[in-house]
Amino acid sequence: MVTRIVAESYGGPEVLKLTETGAVPQPGPGEVTLEPRAIGVNPVDYKLYSGMFGKDPDALPLPVGLEAAGVVTAVGDDASGRGGPVSVGDEVIVHPVGGAYATRLNVPAENVVPKPAGLSWESAAGLLLAGGTAVHGLAVIGLREGDTVLVHGASGGVGQLAVQLAVAAGAKVLGTAGSDPERQRLVAGYGATPLPYGPGLAGRVREAAPEGVRSALDTVGADEAVDVSLEVVPDPQRIVSTAAFGRAEDGIKLIGSGPNADPGTVIRAGAWKQLVPLAERGALTVRVARTFPLAEAAEAHRFLAEGHPGGKVVLIP
Ligand SMILES: NC(=O)c1ccc[n+]([C@@H]2O[C@H](COP(=O)([O-])OP(=O)(O)OC[C@H]3O[C@@H](n4cnc5c(N)ncnc54)[C@H](OP(=O)(O)O)[C@@H]3O)[C@@H](O)[C@H]2O)c1
Repeated sequence: MVTRIVAESYGGPEVLKLTETGAVPQPGPGEVTLEPRAIGVNPVDYKLYSGMFGKDPDALPLPVGLEAAGVVTAVGDDASGRGGPVSVGDEVIVHPVGGAYATRLNVPAENVVPKPAGLSWESAAGLLLAGGTAVHGLAVIGLREGDTVLVHGASGGVGQLAVQLAVAAGAKVLGTAGSDPERQRLVAGYGATPLPYGPGLAGRVREAAPEGVRSALDTVGADEAVDVSLEVVPDPQRIVSTAAFGRAEDGIKLIGSGPNADPGTVIRAGAWKQLVPLAERGALTVRVARTFPLAEAAEAHRFLAEGHPGGKVVLIP
């Protein structure tokens, strides 16, 4: 039996249903069968069935989940992974994939990369979507050594990885987070200057960076993040957002799968080559804030949708 979580209609987490089906078919050409040990949860997972990207009735029931880490249990013909041949028993990470919220599924081998033995299942499952977004965002702002960069949402899934990558690249990083001291310490722990978001943020940024701010990466999407970035960064083309899709007319750059956004397909597909070795040697931390059993996916989405997870959320099949 295979357990899957699907969205039966468009709406809130209550539309998620656990279904039991027979065994997955043998993997077709270019596919492998994966038995996930951990499944990454991302805000886009609930945005997709919320209807904000459209409500196609023919797409229902909607598979949920875009990334997972697990063990290969079968290999189809001509199935080669991003890192080379894939064999039964291999421990791998897969992203992007449709319907990752499952106890077993067939996935495109070309999106499979080897999981280092020293990286936990949970961190591996949360690495590639957020990490690829961080790599893409920092590339689009044109981050250079010695830059001062403002990262909004530095305590979030994408933000924590972006901060670490930017610090490692030799940038001075200002990272916004909730005013809770634990959140501020979390951001400082990655080598950034933590700043509480909220009224007066532009002043706090100027005080922390009298030399000026060259670029900004917004992983929040709130008007405050975009407005403050426009105030402190001289060139709006050096402001990138992963979420403020309504602010394209301000001249900022948008990335990802939203309207007017640069999907960054090539750079994201290649990001694993940078991310996986860094995570393997402990130079990049994927902080797992909370795990939930697969059957509690709706609860995981309610928790994540509150907007303050403190790291990655992961489902355990
Ligand atoms: N375009 C893309 O390719 C792409 C890819 C990945 C994610 N995204 C989007 O990017 C956003 C972030 O994703 P994520 O996975 O990093 O989410 P997350 O883990 O939930 O992080 C959310 C962040 O937002 C901060 N935050 C919450 N409320 C805020 C407010 N009112 N003002 C300022 N900051 C606030 C949180 O700070 P505290 O917890 O400290 O309060 C936290 O740092 C989501 O909208 C997601 O859909 C887009």
